[in-house]
Amino acid sequence: MTTHACRSLIHRLSLLRPTRPAACFNTKLPYSTCSNDSATKPQQHANQALSPATHHHDGQTRPRRIVVGITGATGTVYATRILSILQRLGVETHLVISKWALATMKYETTASEADIHALASRSYVVKDLSAPIASGSFQHDGMIIVPCSMKTLAAVRTGFCDDLISRAADVTLKEGRKLLLAVRETPLSDVHLDNMLFLRRAGAVIFPPVPAFYTRPKSMDDLVDQTAGRMLDSMGLFTDGFKRWDGFERD
Ligand SMILES: Cc1cc2nc3c(=O)[nH]c(=O)nc-3n(C[C@H](O)[C@H](O)[C@H](O)COP(=O)(O)O)c2cc1C
Repeated sequence: MTTHACRSLIHRLSLLRPTRPAACFNTKLPYSTCSNDSATKPQQHANQALSPATHHHDGQTRPRRIVVGITGATGTVYATRILSILQRLGVETHLVISKWALATMKYETTASEADIHALASRSYVVKDLSAPIASGSFQHDGMIIVPCSMKTLAAVRTGFCDDLISRAADVTLKEGRKLLLAVRETPLSDVHLDNMLFLRRAGAVIFPPVPAFYTRPKSMDDLVDQTAGRMLDSMGLFTDGFKRWDGFERD
């Protein structure tokens, strides 16, 4: 096996078994935030060379930061996979989970709330509009809402942002940063489609988590990895933990 193939296999195996450090989430903290060790202590990441963990601007450096919002659409597994990949890449993550995302997550995965928060560098309470990510002065490299419900899509489209997920998305757009919406509903009504088109024209990436079968997935993990990897591609974050199209293969 070549070194590249070996590294790729190790990476894939590690993604299928996400680490679960002790949770730090505490909704009673005064500013409703908490800090994981991963945010403050430098860590060794198997895949670090694949994606620079530092953002450089005008001679200054800061950690690469992504805001992740999870809302109450089905498909919360995409969020946990993305958080665990970002953790391995050494990217600082700022996480907000809606009330209905928690309910959906409890129903469709075995992950606990603490498990999810442990994957993030920092977590916030969804109703806390005083959190740093509610302001444009907090610098980051983009936001992903995954999955994104039709309700949150509508909130971002109209600018009626009364929770931290929609407010952070609103701010991301106004600051001209990357905003990826992993919208999930089927079938789609005129209202949903109109909201998506409007936000696409406003600069957001509309990324329904639609599985690809040309990679001949062997498991649900393969499907989730491929979609999560393509979402991160869209954010300019490279990971090799999934199969990419390389032309028709001969059997
Ligand atoms: C099990 C479950 C699955 C759901 N799936 C979806 C979905 O795929 N898309 C959607 O737009 N809403 C879905 N909903 C409804 C949303 O949770 C609901 O509209 C909620 O108000 C969204 O709020 P949020 O965006 O603040 O999380 C689902 C609800 C439940 C309980």
